[in-house]
Amino acid sequence: MLGRVPATPTHRTVGELMSSPPITATPSELIAEASDRMREHRVGSVVVVDGRRPIGILTERDLVRFAAAGGDAVGTKVAEWMTEEPDTVAPGVDAADAFSSLAEHGYRHIPVVEGGEVVGVVSMRDLMRVAQIQPVTHPGAIEAPPGLKGVVVAETKVGDVRGLEGFYHYREFSAVELAAKRTLEDVWFLLFEGRLPTAAERSAFVDEIAEASVLPDAVRRVLPEIAAGSTTVMEGVRTAVSLLGAVRGMRPTIDIGHEERRRDAVAVCAAMPVLIMAVHRLMSGQEPIDPRPELGYGASYLWMLTGTEPDPDVARAVEQYQMTTIDHGFNASTFTSRVITSTGADVAAAVVGGMGALSGPLHGGAPSRALDLLDAIGSPERARAYITDRVQAGEVIMGFGHAVYKTEDPRSNFLRDVAERIGAEKLPFAGEVERTVVDVLAELKPGRNLYANVEFYAGVVMDHCGLPRQLFTPTFASSRVIGWCANILEQAAENRIIRPSARYVGPPPPQPVPDA
Ligand SMILES: CC(C)(COP(=O)(O)OP(=O)(O)OC[C@H]1O[C@@H](n2cnc3c(N)ncnc32)[C@H](O)[C@@H]1OP(=O)(O)O)[C@@H](O)C(=O)NCCC(=O)NCCS
Repeated sequence: MLGRVPATPTHRTVGELMSSPPITATPSELIAEASDRMREHRVGSVVVVDGRRPIGILTERDLVRFAAAGGDAVGTKVAEWMTEEPDTVAPGVDAADAFSSLAEHGYRHIPVVEGGEVVGVVSMRDLMRVAQIQPVTHPGAIEAPPGLKGVVVAETKVGDVRGLEGFYHYREFSAVELAAKRTLEDVWFLLFEGRLPTAAERSAFVDEIAEASVLPDAVRRVLPEIAAGSTTVMEGVRTAVSLLGAVRGMRPTIDIGHEERRRDAVAVCAAMPVLIMAVHRLMSGQEPIDPRPELGYGASYLWMLTGTEPDPDVARAVEQYQMTTIDHGFNASTFTSRVITSTGADVAAAVVGGMGALSGPLHGGAPSRALDLLDAIGSPERARAYITDRVQAGEVIMGFGHAVYKTEDPRSNFLRDVAERIGAEKLPFAGEVERTVVDVLAELKPGRNLYANVEFYAGVVMDHCGLPRQLFTPTFASSRVIGWCANILEQAAENRIIRPSARYVGPPPPQPVPDA
């Protein structure tokens, strides 16, 4: 028998739900008599008693089995078909507890027993109703903070961010040092293969990328339609990546091996810059321009924008921006890509999901807004009043603050240096605005440690390099896709579906569904 579990005041007990007095029968009664009594009282069972002591239960189900066996109801005793020594429950037990401990047995009716005597019968259906309106408990569940802030959800060898130190790394190398010393393709190789390439590997990898950057005709043909139907470059490219996945026959990651997944990942990453520039040019009424990989990654990117060979310093600045944004811990878009991969979906599906997450202003959609901020301020002397008003109105200042960095963002520092090196026109003004924003936020939001993030100087650099604002977020995506794919490959290699839980806080179910 399920013992006494003290019921909490808000919970209901078995005693409150049971039918009492119970309908009973004796073991020597005929099945026909017991069955008539059940029908008369409209109950699904009778408790078989010896005096008041329960010794069995006879249910509708037993009667159905009896009839199916061709039994003779007037010649057979209850004792022959009852279930002997049924599980019982005490009236003081919490209904939800009774339900969870009895549900697995498949009983429909449970005798309620107190002091060895039957005092009622409770149906599992009644117990279930009550059990369901209790808040659901997830056995062993761990309560995570909103936004999963600070929660470690996976192990990775791709890279990490150390927010308090203002440091981040790809594999075992400082990302900023890689951006200063290496090419984008080297870092891409590092993220995919786990080590920097040799000279021979570099040249083979550059060739592989060049080949993969040629768009299939079936994608190229449809791009004008996609561009015509899009309001932002990100939307158009998101659609095109989805199509590319289909055209390249990308299969669920769960059905294929590492080599095929890697091939798909290279195909998506190599196509991304080409798709970005093609959609952008088509949206502005111009023909797409094919890439020229021999110019180098950043230079080919700018070539596809204008059709002229860019200044090498400018091309390097764009490439360095792209390198600094390849990966950055378990940010929202990377996490999204991993969640999608964890379902076994194909590489393109995971990248499309990542693009959706990146497009939000709180993630990658902000860089153009940081420049818009500079425009709105207009001149240095207006900065303090403008920023103060905005913050006092409860707005966030775009390009400042970070979910992980609580000190200066190393990407912002690096890009400030890049902006200085290329002589970006907006740099002096941006520097003054940065100082003012940091001061005002320190005064109005003390202790929050808010500094310029990657977006602030990214806008200044891209603007100088001739990238229009509508290409800021897509340019972020042009290289972040490499980080997504490194994470996709890692997730697929050691997969476990990512499936957390939520606490339901709506009206208690089940409420009756109103008639239509
Ligand atoms: C990036 C961002 C979403 C991080 O959010 P977060 O980690 O949740 O930061 P928090 O909300 O914990 O910030 C702590 C406090 O600082 C405030 N704050 C954070 N960023 C701020 C900003 N840019 N301007 C004004 N206040 C800001 C928050 O309102 C919060 O205030 P409160 O304590 O009074 O509620 C947030 O800083 C932001 O919206 N920045 C602007 C958008 C942007 O630049 N995005 C690109 C990121 S790379």
